[in-house]
Amino acid sequence: MVAELSSAVAVEVARAATLLVSKQRICILTGAGISAESGIPTFRDKQTGLWENYRAEDLATPEAFARDPKLVWSWYQWRRQLVHDKQPNPAHRALAQWQQHCARVNQQLTLITQNVDDLHEQANRLEQTIDKVIHLHGHLWRNRCSHCDKAYEGNTPMSNREVESVEKNADKPSYRFDDSLLQCTHCGSYIRPDIVWFGESLPVDAWQTAEEAAAHCEVFISIGTSSLVYPAAGLAQLAKQNGAKIIEINPDPTANDIVDITLAEKAGIVMPVLIEQIYQHSFP
Ligand code: OAD
Ligand code: ZN
Repeated sequence: MVAELSSAVAVEVARAATLLVSKQRICILTGAGISAESGIPTFRDKQTGLWENYRAEDLATPEAFARDPKLVWSWYQWRRQLVHDKQPNPAHRALAQWQQHCARVNQQLTLITQNVDDLHEQANRLEQTIDKVIHLHGHLWRNRCSHCDKAYEGNTPMSNREVESVEKNADKPSYRFDDSLLQCTHCGSYIRPDIVWFGESLPVDAWQTAEEAAAHCEVFISIGTSSLVYPAAGLAQLAKQNGAKIIEINPDPTANDIVDITLAEKAGIVMPVLIEQIYQHSFP
């Protein structure tokens, strides 16, 4: 595994592992980049196909939904189509294993994500970890009313999934997410995805937990995020102000300029090596 890392990155991974085993409280923030190796495009990637003329910032807003609910709902149904068969990659799996390890050695690890996919949860199930994941930007697989906020249970995205065509001789049917608008059974307003859009507040409980974890951690790790979208991007600064060391895992430079250790490599490559080294420190 280590062979896949350049020697410069390997040196930094070793520094990060030494630091991490010496501290008690670790806070991790993940972004779209951690799911990139599972085949889910990031937000700064150009959109493809039907949606190539749109930017996420123009679709993920309450104003866009008010103006054209069908357009925004169709975009999310398309995203669900894109994500529904994606699986956790080695970075998600390594993080789930690390959560388990931290529980055994009495370290506190808080995992916060900006992602709306459920790949951290899927990895936790695969690794049989019961730890929670704090979602700052909501959940792609949940819906709620755009007016009265009631959770929409009636017709979940799974039951929205329709067989589009069962082609002759095809091994598997292909699926399509229905893009007809749904209406709230309480007030009749349109149903929207339970996702935090630009200009909206973050869920209070999730944000409070994230702020506390960032303010009290000794090491803050930022994985696969461009650090452009606030308030999530401010968590690293909060951690730094309170004396934490900052580690960043990202193959490309980001807006985060307070990093102490940069692991300039894909998360799916670097995370398993980092975890292996942490184990070696713990059980030499
Ligand atoms: P971005 O799309 O802004 O950034 C993704 C980051 O992942 C970039 O810095 C890439 O360099 C990095 N990256 C790409 N592949 C990677 C890999 N294999 N390993 C590690 N890093 C990799 O995504 P976020 O920072 O998550 O909001 O975006 C923040 C928020 O803006 C999102 O949650 C979303 C978006 O609009 C909502 O949906 C509310
Ligand atoms: Zn309603």
